[in-house]
Amino acid sequence: MSALPSYTQNGQTITFAFAQPLQLTIVTPEIIRVFINRGEQGESYAIEGHKIQATDFTIESAGDHYIIRTSALTIHLDSERHLDTFDKDGNALITDYRGERIHLKGVDKVHERLVEAEGHSVTKAPTKSDQGYYEIIKSLAPDEYLYGLGDKTGYLNKRGFAYDNWNVDNPAPQLEILPNIYKSIPVMLGLKNGHPYGIFFDNTYQSHLDMGKESNHYYFYSAVQGNLDYYIIGGTTLKDIVTNYTYLTGRTPLPQKWTLGYQQSRWGYSASQEEVQAIADNLAKYDLPCDAIHFDVDYMDGYRVFTWDKDKYQGNPKKFITKLNQQGLKVIPIIDPGVKQDSDYHIYAEGLKKGYFVKSADGDVYINKVWPGNAAFPDFGRPEVRQWWANNGKFLTDLGVAGIWIDMNEPATFEGPIPDDVVFNDQDTPSTHKKMHNVYGHNMAKATYAGLKEQTGNRPFVITRAAYAGTQKYSTVWTGDNRSMWPHIQMMIPQLCNLGLSGFSFTGTDIGGFASDTTSELLTRWIEGAIFSPLLRNHAALGTRQQEPWAFGEPTLNIYRKYLKLRYRLIPYLYDLFAKETKTGLPIMRPVVLNYDQDPRVRDLNDEYMVGDDILVAPVVQKSQFKRLVYLPAGNWVDFWNGAEYAGNQDIVVDTPLDKLPLFVKQNTILPWGPAVSHISDEPLKAMTFRVFGTQGTYQHYQDNGRDFKYQSGEWNNYTITVDHNKVNVQLTHHGYQPVYQQITVELSDHVVKLTYDNDSSCYRE
Ligand code: GLC
Repeated sequence: MSALPSYTQNGQTITFAFAQPLQLTIVTPEIIRVFINRGEQGESYAIEGHKIQATDFTIESAGDHYIIRTSALTIHLDSERHLDTFDKDGNALITDYRGERIHLKGVDKVHERLVEAEGHSVTKAPTKSDQGYYEIIKSLAPDEYLYGLGDKTGYLNKRGFAYDNWNVDNPAPQLEILPNIYKSIPVMLGLKNGHPYGIFFDNTYQSHLDMGKESNHYYFYSAVQGNLDYYIIGGTTLKDIVTNYTYLTGRTPLPQKWTLGYQQSRWGYSASQEEVQAIADNLAKYDLPCDAIHFDVDYMDGYRVFTWDKDKYQGNPKKFITKLNQQGLKVIPIIDPGVKQDSDYHIYAEGLKKGYFVKSADGDVYINKVWPGNAAFPDFGRPEVRQWWANNGKFLTDLGVAGIWIDMNEPATFEGPIPDDVVFNDQDTPSTHKKMHNVYGHNMAKATYAGLKEQTGNRPFVITRAAYAGTQKYSTVWTGDNRSMWPHIQMMIPQLCNLGLSGFSFTGTDIGGFASDTTSELLTRWIEGAIFSPLLRNHAALGTRQQEPWAFGEPTLNIYRKYLKLRYRLIPYLYDLFAKETKTGLPIMRPVVLNYDQDPRVRDLNDEYMVGDDILVAPVVQKSQFKRLVYLPAGNWVDFWNGAEYAGNQDIVVDTPLDKLPLFVKQNTILPWGPAVSHISDEPLKAMTFRVFGTQGTYQHYQDNGRDFKYQSGEWNNYTITVDHNKVNVQLTHHGYQPVYQQITVELSDHVVKLTYDNDSSCYRE
């Protein structure tokens, strides 16, 4: 072994004098950045602002390695640059693999052509032949589970699979064999012998994560270019890892309350005002709670973004939007990045004149085809372009839209991929598509968020398809074009759960499935299984069969309505979870393992999830399944439907007729139970009900105006509801928002307690 290199220390950054110097930055006791400068300039897109906290740490030489220690993490670094991380008790978390990779056998060019001739694809990960390539290999223990990576396809535990980080719009069914989809969120969370850790690889270039597919002994990260820049994240629990990761990359901001309502969509509706009106009327006629209708690309004039085809809207889209609003429905239009190449079109003309579009290496505006035909692509990496885009949104907010759905922002192109060398700016520095591709959607989301905030003063509602780590600060996401097939409802659970572990708390799938024809049974099971997904939207592709809640008649309609009504009752609970999430980063919809990381039974569980800490959901995601096994983790559980009690740490068999979503509440939980409404109104609620599952418990309930940013200056209330042996106490523990609830009802198993607010004493009394 060679001698240990010398090191220098600058604040909390230690630089070790290897041939390529290695830097460790102690960000917090639980977060350490590992960095090797490989010549790449520019700031992180995922991490904004100053994150380094004053932290005590020590560094000592132990002969053949250095030991760097914080109160939570210990790193060993040897002269060969092997880096091993342990938790404070000495348990290994992330350790460099000492052997060589044993590459999987590939095929030669001749056979590759044969395989491709029949329409199959050959796996092509970045290789050492790419200039700038690097890889990091870490050991895998036999008992090690890997999570995260956003909404990559497959299972909750990613071990045994490999994925690419390169945002694509791939129409192939999103099955476990797909290496990449619309988002690149290169954070992985692990449980090694039960000990939690996280690693976040902050590099926007195309990268690859082999999670033990090539070998059972290691996992590796490789990238085609960029600095070696990753964060080691520690903590006592898996929850700590999520909290620390979202401390670094940001948290989903508190949404407007109505965004938690049901949303109806279909590609095609917006081609005619009459069709949208019919949808709105049917929602009312069939007594289906709903808060928004989405307007897909057809509302535009020839797919020109920031235009509205007035001919389809009796000359006055604003009037129609106002009418829908009066019916309790908000309007969410879609916006794509591709700007139609048409010199008579003001957005294109202005973008061209000001040089806002990305350019080919030869300096011409780069053109590719999307919905409007030939289109140019705004250079969202530039602050000035983001501001321009944000301002353009005023056209929509002036019409009265309540949010913007952004799509095709991988960016997707119909005539082949954008060449790597097309010039995209990195802030104000010319860069390449190769570097900026994976943050294109991120920057578009950031621009859209800024515009909505400026123009409406409300908490922006943006839904994006493409994303990078950190996009959760600006946008909710959906998983893109799934299909109406059982494997896709199955995948919804791991996809949304892994998004939650990856910092994205506001997520959803196209309910019923986007492409292909759904069936009444699939649609029914989908609305049941998705009923707690924060973004609750039914959306389908043009040309597929209708899949509105009424499209199949009974019993689908009745069941659909029953679950929408349940959802609306529990919106206050979801909103409370969001209020907590802004402080902890813990997702609303989460895998059971996040709450019970020491229970080996839940580490590979793909068909159950939890909502916060209190509700366990075991959806039916198999066709014709009228009984299912439900695993209940530790504790006691109450069947939501009939109050039956079960001890945890066991599997139970549950009947699952078509209208039944198995739902269990942790015993001694108090849940808010909102009023039965058809829309989330802007009017403050005057009363709230709480339901007690058990005989005691305590619950924190959050209240604000549900709309704007006044809560940030203290305009919110917190209620503490305590039930102890059937005695009820309600306290207003922070009072910054008017009006407070005048009445609070607490429903216990055998009686109901009603409390009234006494303004003079600011107390609730029976
Ligand atoms: C993309 C979107 C889909 C949308 C369609 C038309 O496929 O993912 O949701 O309906 O484009 O805009």
